[in-house]
Amino acid sequence: MFHKFAALFLLVSGLSLPLHSQTRPVDSEGHQWWQHAVFYEIYPRSFMDSNGDGIGDLVGIDSKMDYLKSLGVDAIWLTPCYPSPQVDFGYDVADYENIDPMYGTLADFDRLEKDAKQRGIRIIMDFVMNHTSSEHPWFLDSQSSRTAAKRDWYMWHDGKGPGLPPNNWISEFGGSAWTFDAKTGQFYYHYFYLQQPDLNWHNPAVKDAMFDVTRWWYKRGVTGFRLDAVDTLFEDPQMRDNPVLPGLNKYGDPKEENVYNTKLPEVHVVLRDLRKVADENNAVLIGETWTKDVSELKQYYGDHSDELQMPMDFMFTKVDKLSPPEFRRQIAAVDSAGGWPVFVLSNHDIVRSYVRYGDKQHDQAIAKLMASLYLTLRGTPIMYYGEEIGMENNDPTRKEDVKDPIGRVGWPQEKGRDGERTPMQWDDSPNAGFTRGVPWLPVPPSYKTVNVAAELKDPSSILNTYKTLLALRHQNRALLDGDYVALNENDANVLSYLRRYKNEAVLVVLNMSAQPQDVSFDLSPQGFPAKSAHTLLTTTATGSKESSVSHLSLEPFAVYIGAVSK
Ligand code: NOJ
Repeated sequence: MFHKFAALFLLVSGLSLPLHSQTRPVDSEGHQWWQHAVFYEIYPRSFMDSNGDGIGDLVGIDSKMDYLKSLGVDAIWLTPCYPSPQVDFGYDVADYENIDPMYGTLADFDRLEKDAKQRGIRIIMDFVMNHTSSEHPWFLDSQSSRTAAKRDWYMWHDGKGPGLPPNNWISEFGGSAWTFDAKTGQFYYHYFYLQQPDLNWHNPAVKDAMFDVTRWWYKRGVTGFRLDAVDTLFEDPQMRDNPVLPGLNKYGDPKEENVYNTKLPEVHVVLRDLRKVADENNAVLIGETWTKDVSELKQYYGDHSDELQMPMDFMFTKVDKLSPPEFRRQIAAVDSAGGWPVFVLSNHDIVRSYVRYGDKQHDQAIAKLMASLYLTLRGTPIMYYGEEIGMENNDPTRKEDVKDPIGRVGWPQEKGRDGERTPMQWDDSPNAGFTRGVPWLPVPPSYKTVNVAAELKDPSSILNTYKTLLALRHQNRALLDGDYVALNENDANVLSYLRRYKNEAVLVVLNMSAQPQDVSFDLSPQGFPAKSAHTLLTTTATGSKESSVSHLSLEPFAVYIGAVSK
């Protein structure tokens, strides 16, 4: 009898598919693990230094595993910690299958993976697909002669004429995207720094070698990749000049429309094939997908949901003011795109959200408001380390202090990304408890109060608000699986919505203004005639356990989250 049931279960749940198939749902909605997960980005240089060299490392991250668990994260994305000359702080990879000694060893990685797994936390690596370091053995070979075995692994071309690059393409990080190599008399192409030569993805040998890299890490226990710079994998084989736009960019180069060197259709072929390898390993692919609109974002999910499971919605980060109408528009667009939304507030390339949204008067309240927004939407959030304690940007004030090369090239218009990459603030001891040495980037003075240890003790801290929100996300069915229903859509100050799942719903009310607001809801058209909500989280000091939905009063920038039932 038991066997019959077991066979039936296998049939119904689709487990007759390959063992590592991506189709193992975690709920009756057919959701996958990553749809219920909260991801957390760690910039290894800046998270925790175990050996006093001022640079974070894997042993340091491992020592904070209990913190990550208690915070409520399910997966950590490590930005590159592979061997690298560190021109772009790891995004210039010299060996894809190792750990840079400054971050530790493969044995440290294995221990980290094991300790994470023990706590139910998965590890996502960063896959720098577009380019390698100019010190990668592949490039060293490629550069050695025109007839080298790996010459065609990179993009080598003759100039247009003496001293002239092959075309007008501009590097994202300033200057021409072509660098002349005197030894072989040709130019090589680099969308980013000249120490980051672009791989030639038209070459099947490149594709094979790079796909094997992912297999190698899957075998080591990694459960997915964040794909770096996917837009830029392919270039026009005819090498046509990009159209030039009026004006200069922050590096003093002519502005261009990158029609011939970004977002070429071939990218999608690679993503579909990479997805097959991911599916064989029950892994997830997250995309660094800078898109101008939702129709572009949609393409990254794939026509048959066969490309990226998690293309990041960076348009959300571009809503750079607390504007309910603008957030409503963006959320509705992404929510209806057909894929599973992926929300981020900031990362190692984007100014911290604390500063972007803060008004210098209500910064704490606003940080809680933004957390409440993206952690209660339908979709998967990717947090950035330090956001949960309200870390601010600490931008350099003098050019000579800048570490990120673009900050030196573009100074003062572009100060680089050091400001959002400063050490994690653990406590109020010297250097915020990050290192016993000299930190590679300075810690801002605010660390004395803005730190994990202090905020753990304060029930109303930003950190404890995050913890509450993450716990709610994991337990509440409406937050896990419910649809998104916009409410009071004409309200210019308060953003409100319902997450609705069967007989339960969660009401989220966010006052995005500096004035107190009174709001009223009639949820009967949504199938919830009840007049009161059971409070799950409120940042209003006088909040009570039950609140009337027909009359809610909110302090400036306050949050109300309550459960309603039929
Ligand atoms: C995107 C990464 O997030 C950024 O930090 C890096 O500089 C570029 N890609 C180049 O790899």
